[in-house]
Amino acid sequence: MPEWEPYEADLDRTLVTRFSVAERVQHIVLMASFTILIVTGIPLLFWDTPAIRIFGGIFSVRTSLHRVAGSVLGLLAAYHVLYALFTRQGRRDFARIVPRAQDLRDLVHHVRYQLGMADEPPPFAKFDPFEKFEYFAVVWGSAVMVATGLMMWFFEATLQVFPKWVYDLVLMIHGYEALLAFLAIILWHLYNVHLKPGVFPMSRVWLDGKLTLRELKRHHPKEYGRWLRQQRIQRVSEVPDNEA
Ligand code: HEM
Repeated sequence: MPEWEPYEADLDRTLVTRFSVAERVQHIVLMASFTILIVTGIPLLFWDTPAIRIFGGIFSVRTSLHRVAGSVLGLLAAYHVLYALFTRQGRRDFARIVPRAQDLRDLVHHVRYQLGMADEPPPFAKFDPFEKFEYFAVVWGSAVMVATGLMMWFFEATLQVFPKWVYDLVLMIHGYEALLAFLAIILWHLYNVHLKPGVFPMSRVWLDGKLTLRELKRHHPKEYGRWLRQQRIQRVSEVPDNEA
């Protein structure tokens, strides 16, 4: 139990920063490139249906857009690795998002809570197990899409090195992973971040990076506890020397 709690009204008035400007810009670039990749890529999966005539667009425009957006996604992934390695905030957040044994315990606790077998929800930290899973799914998915996309882009070089069946497999992986990513974003990610009870109609974290204290307390109780402790340390250190 924390030693002090803010006043009830302050829970809605006080904003805490969840994502830095650099993180929000990365997320927006990811959103834009991913959307263009889906719109220009998915119609190809349905080349023998009327959908391709409606959504396929002009071949040269569609395929150029797809490659430009693919290159943006590749550059973004490279920047993100540097961000996670060489900036303080990037290193700190990466350390927090790495899965731990506690996530498994929190997951079991969460299922028990959802089934009415536990009174309190699990005390999630800054990133809950679902957010961690989504993050690493994007990391893994982007690596696969960039690698297979480049192999398709430079297919002559690929076919000089690999047999034809490897190329066919690459095409299949690129197509099915695209479909999986599309469905995961539409059905899972958008529901989890914007539509679930307590957040609907839209979370603004992706725009201004802020959560209210009430949201922090509700969705990330452990992070809320850390915030309270930090405030306390600051308050003590703010007391002038002659009053201490
Ligand atoms: C999440 C990201 C991506 C999605 C959702 C996506 C989606 C797709 C889909 C559905 C296809 C059709 C596959 C088929 O015909 O079976 C395709 C083709 C292709 N993709 Fe991607 N893709 C992504 C990333 C990339 C990247 C990063 C690159 C390159 C660096 C790339 C380059 C290509 C190329 C060269 C083709 C062949 C057809 C064309 O030129 O339009 N893709 N993509």
